[in-house]
Amino acid sequence: MLTTAVLSAPARADLDERQGKLLSSNCVQCHARPETGAPLMGNPPDWKVRNEQGMDRLLVNTVLGLRGMPPLGYCSACTEQDLRELIKAVSGIEVAAE
Ligand code: HEC
Repeated sequence: MLTTAVLSAPARADLDERQGKLLSSNCVQCHARPETGAPLMGNPPDWKVRNEQGMDRLLVNTVLGLRGMPPLGYCSACTEQDLRELIKAVSGIEVAAE
């Protein structure tokens, strides 16, 4: 199953169990489904240019939404720290230790 493959990817190694659930019940609904037009998890070419904007810009666009990307990625339960971890998992962006 696609969701299982995505969730076992190394990119989510930093997520705790609760964040893993937030990821699968929100972000994965679009970011593992090509037909939604979302850049896909585990597919670096979809993310190269986006990630060059840097984490802070990705965070702003996630919180406010961007075209087909809904504000907060529908994750109303997410804290800023959750969103940072979920963005890392979805985008694969490399971020220096915070
Ligand atoms: C309803 C579908 C949907 C959901 C749910 C969703 N996304 Fe997205 N996301 C999109 C789409 C579509 C785009 C591409 C927007 C564009 O550039 O047109 C996107 C883009 C992004 C981007 C790139 C923003 C940029 O600056 O290019 C990030 C980061 C992101 N999503 C993170 C997340 C995270 C984290 C979650 C879960 C909390 C999430 N998304 C949930 C559809 C979704």
